Amino acid sequence: MNARDPAAFPSPVAAHAAAPFALDAQQLIGQIAVQLPGATAVFRRLKLDFCCGGHVSLAQAAAGKGLDADAVVAELAHLQRGEALPLAGASATALIELILARYHEVHRQQLPELIRMARRVEAVHREHPAVPAGLADALEETHAELLDHMGKEEAVLFPLLRRGGNPFVGMPISVMRAEHTDHGAALDRLNALTHDTAPPEDACTTWRALYAGIAQFCDDLISHIHLENNVLFPPFEAQAGAAHGLDAGASDCASPRCGCH
Ligand SMILES: [Fe+2]
Ligand SMILES: [Fe+2]
Repeated sequence: MNARDPAAFPSPVAAHAAAPFALDAQQLIGQIAVQLPGATAVFRRLKLDFCCGGHVSLAQAAAGKGLDADAVVAELAHLQRGEALPLAGASATALIELILARYHEVHRQQLPELIRMARRVEAVHREHPAVPAGLADALEETHAELLDHMGKEEAVLFPLLRRGGNPFVGMPISVMRAEHTDHGAALDRLNALTHDTAPPEDACTTWRALYAGIAQFCDDLISHIHLENNVLFPPFEAQAGAAHGLDAGASDCASPRCGCH
């Protein structure tokens, strides 16, 4: 296989699964906040109360603020994102475009809102025995690490892959793989702090929306890492390994010191 021709790669890109949540202006605004991750950021910007006032329909809440409920529903509909699924025959360049649009851009939207909600839940419910103490700090740390990681992919690795890779591409890929392992540890920490994103029985709407958003973020980050580790990187690693006279299995590791060759 010629790695100089990304179109020759066998696996990449992407279809989108159908969005599962049927959005309706007659639904309770608090219910939408919990079921549709990212909705809280829209409600906050429009000054629609989804927490203490979450027991009214979206249509009623919108009317109370002089807003067009259909326009709000249309905006919320953009938040419904299916999982990106690999599709045979697409190019590495197309897979990179998908990763950027479906995961990098979405993580940049998700995390600031989750941090805001976590700060609020930790402050308002600080006396609650199930309060996720330290969650906002953990999310901020994850956000910073992810921004740094995605920045490196966007500035260095992905442009290199778009050009077809080179015999030394295994090294930057191995750095990204190591950082993906660190991201997995960060997700473990978020799940431990939130009891696997299970809110207590008496949790308010913001608390429930926070945990739903974290669950969505975790699912997205796992899918994101899967696409890079298992779909995007291997053909380039095989190409680099072949250039160094290594077989495809050995080429998965670019470290000359790990002893796996
Ligand atoms: Fe990425
Ligand atoms: Fe990555």
